[in-house]
Amino acid sequence: MNYSKWLSMKTLEYRDDVLYFAGKNTLDISKEYGTPIYVINENTIRERYKNLKILLNSEYENNRIHYAVKANSNLSILKILHSEGAFFDCTSMGEIYTCFKAGISPVKIIYTGNMFTDEDFTFAVENKVLINLDSVSQLNRLAKIHDGLGVEKSVISFRINPEFGAGHHAHTITAGRTIKFGILEEQAIEAFSKAKDIGFKKFGIHQHIGSGVLNAQDFKKPVEKYISIIKKIANSLEIKFEFIDFGGGLGIPYRPLEEPLDYNIYKDVVIKPFKNLINSEDIGEPIFKIEPGRYLTAESSILLTQINTIKNNGYKLFAGVDAGFNTLLRPTLYNSYHHIIACNKKGKEPTLTYDITGPICESGDILGKNRELNRLEEKEILAILDVGAYGFTMSSTYNSRPRSSEILINNGKTFKIREAESLDDLLKHQIIPDHLK
Ligand SMILES: Cc1ncc(COP(=O)(O)O)c(C=O)c1O
Repeated sequence: MNYSKWLSMKTLEYRDDVLYFAGKNTLDISKEYGTPIYVINENTIRERYKNLKILLNSEYENNRIHYAVKANSNLSILKILHSEGAFFDCTSMGEIYTCFKAGISPVKIIYTGNMFTDEDFTFAVENKVLINLDSVSQLNRLAKIHDGLGVEKSVISFRINPEFGAGHHAHTITAGRTIKFGILEEQAIEAFSKAKDIGFKKFGIHQHIGSGVLNAQDFKKPVEKYISIIKKIANSLEIKFEFIDFGGGLGIPYRPLEEPLDYNIYKDVVIKPFKNLINSEDIGEPIFKIEPGRYLTAESSILLTQINTIKNNGYKLFAGVDAGFNTLLRPTLYNSYHHIIACNKKGKEPTLTYDITGPICESGDILGKNRELNRLEEKEILAILDVGAYGFTMSSTYNSRPRSSEILINNGKTFKIREAESLDDLLKHQIIPDHLK
């Protein structure tokens, strides 16, 4: 794939040397709303959802896409996906609460937490949200909460750890014997058998092997293992499954010229083995579920940031910008690559090598290392690409810097969907005891 096609997949193009995103002039956006700012193209989210749905429907119509809310939990994003027919995957009470505020019904949510507290269980049971357990030990506590509240024990699901994981960084690989998530093969039968004994009537099963998987072949081994575990459970306990969830993890091409995930391979190594399973075993007519976060939202957004300082220390060139790892954590946390481009292209200038650094008081506050860019100037605007997943949701107020705003582009119009925080917001929840007043 050539560079301009790669950019156009993310609705980016240069017109007269100015960067346009979703048909809008990025320099005008930064002038109107200020920087740093997350800018989201609504249409990209809708398209990604529709394309994925078409792909799944082409193989198996009884499917559901649960959007992983952790990727981007803005109410408007949830409403967009809800209007497309998405279901939702939540990992905390806060995410479930946010879904409710977006008008999403509990029946559309799966709660895949880990290290659940009794408070988590109570909230989910009271609100009739399906729970996906992460440890056999949690069953008794959950049953007590059902009994205490007098709520029928209907459906329960367990997250399986198929031991083979994958992901863009060690911290995003979520399967393996030393990884905290899910239930290993040895305890899988025990989990479902106990759940049956305790009184749960219907069952689902789940795995999520990691995040940022761009080589679809990486799903093959985990899926094979997962399916072998499902067969064992079904055969020894005569269980039928309401759904079989294959988790998220679908990666996106963050680097120029990188190809998207090969969906034909994904079909071959994930969907077809699932179909073979249900055709060969007596396990009911389960819904095929997946839980993508990154795939649906990452490419929908850019982060606009202004250069405030060009620093040449005699050894290295730094372009200091107003976004830091407080705004976008992924480069620091995972050494992740986000492509960075100038919003006004000066094609004829010489190319120089910069570290793009934020204002945070840490040497690790680097958004892009050794980036070749046309000569940059203070006050210019840069665009950091593919920030729509795990961008804003991972941002913080570290160094007492307020969080940035978010705007949404829909049909050529811009809408502010989050106000930037103020300095007062930083102090909102602090309480000074009397002796210090
Ligand atoms: C249980 C679960 N499902 C789905 C996802 C979404 O992953 P991704 O954004 O890579 O699709 C995650 C992410 O960590 C997860 O933990």
